[in-house]
Amino acid sequence: MALVKPLTKFSNGAPKFGSNPGSPKTRASSMLRMSARAETAAAAAKKTPKKAPKTPPKETLLAPRFYTTDFDEMETLFNTEINKNLNEAEFEALLQEFKTDYNQTHFVRNKEFKEAADKLQGPLRQIFVEFLERSCTAEFSGFLLYKELGRRLKKTNPVVAEIFSLMSRDEARHAGFLNKGLSDFNLALDLGFLTKARKYTFFKPKFIFYATYLSEKIGYWRYITIYRHLKENPEYQCYPIFNYFENWCQDENRHGDFFSALMKAQPQFLNDWKAKLWSRFFCLSVYVTMYLNDCQRTAFYQGIGLNTKEFDMHVIIETNRTTARIFPAVLDVENPEFKRKLDRMVEINQKLIAVGETDDIPLVKNLKRIPMVAALASELLAAYLMPPIESGSVDFADFETQLVY
Ligand SMILES: [Fe+2]
Ligand SMILES: [Fe+2]
Repeated sequence: MALVKPLTKFSNGAPKFGSNPGSPKTRASSMLRMSARAETAAAAAKKTPKKAPKTPPKETLLAPRFYTTDFDEMETLFNTEINKNLNEAEFEALLQEFKTDYNQTHFVRNKEFKEAADKLQGPLRQIFVEFLERSCTAEFSGFLLYKELGRRLKKTNPVVAEIFSLMSRDEARHAGFLNKGLSDFNLALDLGFLTKARKYTFFKPKFIFYATYLSEKIGYWRYITIYRHLKENPEYQCYPIFNYFENWCQDENRHGDFFSALMKAQPQFLNDWKAKLWSRFFCLSVYVTMYLNDCQRTAFYQGIGLNTKEFDMHVIIETNRTTARIFPAVLDVENPEFKRKLDRMVEINQKLIAVGETDDIPLVKNLKRIPMVAALASELLAAYLMPPIESGSVDFADFETQLVY
């Protein structure tokens, strides 16, 4: 799964990561605990492990989400007796691809991780921790959803079920690797607690398809873009996890291609006017969420030598081009007006965050937010209503699952 999730409600502001990772005031503190490997001051904690109070993590608009769906409807959709569009040969081929497990031996750490983490100090260290935490949460969210789908579809469609199980294997690997990265910073994400404490967002199956397809493809473009940039500019390579992104992103690409095949098997989700409206809605949600999230974390992107907005626009444009192969309509993100709208949303979001950080009482804060939320909603609507690009593969026979290497 990618690092961003669709927009579904308005936020009270940005998720914050405090200067003290152990502070109970921070969102992260509810999920992060000190590792037994901590040094110096944390050595005491090794003898008497100090656990942060477990309170449910703060849910915000832009935080990575956990998803659940209507599993009974999923079973109906993948019942080969009912749905004659299911191309069993194609799913069987995909299953063999997943079984090959190209990255079985890819995620092996070395001592460079800890050494690099120790060199990262000051604000960049904190922002790295936040990057690892958010990425781990997003990957783990994919693991939970795919694992459950693998379990629930076993009887109805064993091939599709096994692919979901193998995708959950990949996501568990990704989440585990990121969590090991946190251990370099003497922290660990409590995934068991996260599973129970986090709120789950319900999406009907067709929305799971749109959201997850985009999430996987945007994840692919983010990882490969960071990897290629650091390969060309090795002086910014400050933590070895990025070296793993080239093979890692191919997992995300395969996951996205599987969702392409799933959507092709459900043409009712792709071939009418409602599908076009929802496709545009999900594209907008995913792109805006990523842009606003990343613009709150420019220090991270600057730290690895990237211009945040240029990076995001590259990822959005490439994801949109990929998505146009399967969605019946996409946004015209290459129209300069689209970026201007995104930039205005960033400005409004910054003002919203500033209101959240004042000492005003909640009522005053909410009153101050009203015109800003209205302005944000108006920008979103205007972006949504921009003339779209008709796309997709009406003739599915011409559509080939493609891996982008
Ligand atoms: Fe992943
Ligand atoms: Fe994935």
